Amino acid sequence: MTREQAPSLADVARLAQARLPRDLWDYVAGGSGAETTLAANRAALEEVSMLPRVLTGTRAPDPATRLLGSAAAAPFAVAPMAYQRLLHPDGELATAEAAAAAGVPFVVSTLSSVPVEQIARTGATTWFQLYWLRPPGLVESLVARAEDAGCEALVVTVDVPVMGRRLRDVRNSFALPDDVVAAHLADGAASRAHEPVPGESAIAAHTAATFAPGLGWADIARLRASTSLPLVLKGILDPRDALLAEESGVDAVVVSNHGGRQFDGAAPSIAALPAVADALAGRVAVYLDSGIRTGTDILRALACGAEGVLVGRPVLHGLAVDGARGVGHVLSLLAEELRDAMTLAGCADVAAVRALSTVRTVRTR
Ligand code: FNR
Ligand code: LAC
Repeated sequence: MTREQAPSLADVARLAQARLPRDLWDYVAGGSGAETTLAANRAALEEVSMLPRVLTGTRAPDPATRLLGSAAAAPFAVAPMAYQRLLHPDGELATAEAAAAAGVPFVVSTLSSVPVEQIARTGATTWFQLYWLRPPGLVESLVARAEDAGCEALVVTVDVPVMGRRLRDVRNSFALPDDVVAAHLADGAASRAHEPVPGESAIAAHTAATFAPGLGWADIARLRASTSLPLVLKGILDPRDALLAEESGVDAVVVSNHGGRQFDGAAPSIAALPAVADALAGRVAVYLDSGIRTGTDILRALACGAEGVLVGRPVLHGLAVDGARGVGHVLSLLAEELRDAMTLAGCADVAAVRALSTVRTVRTR
């Protein structure tokens, strides 16, 4: 994939769509319900305009920062995403390799199709994403595996009490192919996720069978007490939950609606961000995901109070088009766009971006 073919993440998405079977494209691109929240994420980002600073003497901006205490080349990380071998035979290994080369963290999903130990050997900075699973002791054993593999943080995803109603997957009777398995789950290849049932998402059925229902703050407190790794809660939108997260001793929250895949009707992440950032007032790190597609979007998120962002689907698009090279293309485009936008906005560093003023504008298209 050359710069001529794909000079933006939107171009990479088009190339991926042209290449992927319809049901795989739909699984990645889709949201839940009427996809209101999915669309609102983009619309709300485009409504955030910034007031660029001038005459700041900035020549070459420096996007380097720290994310959860580790150095990062830029204020973004690769979001946790399940089953990446659906998109390329190298799956998570390719994505992690590209993240390592770009100098940004890679978040390993509980539902990874490659085991965390192998991913860690790419040399990427890895964080481990936890879903709360039913089998007794499984969460504890995943935490121990993540710690032993050298993961530098745990990210608990709190917005999946059940899987959202993904109508595209229901219409496609979507199921996993036999050769893509949840590498960390004992039921692996034999799981419910591989049994197509007409008019049902096999992934949703698998989730319902595997994920523990009724997760509460007491579970987070127990986890906090059981590990010294930095703890992140992903899927916070209400500032009251952000304050409860702080009381539970977490190190960061990700303001996220799961890319519009969970509660359809949830606020766009970027709209929820300022109140969460105000409530936490710098005492707990605040990240954002859902809808980041350009370097300018990263400026928007930082100007609205985030310290960094997670990037989801665009990474999978790059993976589908050209494996590790494709993900590398996506991550370098984002970094380049970020540097350009910083220069144009007169920002020498991440702190200057976070100090930009914003205004809300009504979209004109
Ligand atoms: C996800 N996401 C996700 N989140 C999580 O915590 N664990 C997971 O296993 C997955 N799996 C997953 C699969 C696929 C195909 C997608 C697209 C997303 C959600 C992800 O981490 C992130 O919140 C959103 O993707 C961010 O939105 P954008 O950047 O995709 O718009
Ligand atoms: C998803 C689940 C796996 O969004 O988190 O597809």
